[in-house]
Amino acid sequence: MNILVLNGPNLNLLGKREPEVYGSMTLENVISDLRRYAESVDVELTHFQSNAEHELIEKIQNVLIDSLPIHGIIINPAAFTHTSVAIRDALLALNLPIIEVHLSNVHARESFRQHSYISDIADGVIVGLGHLGYRFAVDALVSKYTTKNN
Ligand code: DQA
Repeated sequence: MNILVLNGPNLNLLGKREPEVYGSMTLENVISDLRRYAESVDVELTHFQSNAEHELIEKIQNVLIDSLPIHGIIINPAAFTHTSVAIRDALLALNLPIIEVHLSNVHARESFRQHSYISDIADGVIVGLGHLGYRFAVDALVSKYTTKNN
């Protein structure tokens, strides 16, 4: 099984950026930890982070255009969560299971973080569990894939 993990703007600063909100692990650490976990459950991860909306959209579009063997998407759209109809539309084009992840509990923060353009088209949303949220998202996609293919 192959999973595409997408991280949006400012997540390249993990570890340095508001560590009290987002934790002290760097993005590199989060992804290498996740890769190790994924391997243990027979999942291959492709990871992409960008600060640019169009780059995230192109990465999503490429799954369709290049018929990439991706079976599910984990996305932390970061600030684009609250602004991007374009990322929502790109995800809708794929028709793949999607898990939205946020490191922080967005519901306990500013009101503008309470609305997501992605949540209602996602299969599940994980918030507030830090980097472990990505692991739980892998588990959720594996479980969906296994149910569908057995
Ligand atoms: C975030 C929450 C967003 O509101 C914020 O803009 C981020 C990170 C999170 O992981 O908690 O950049 O997606």
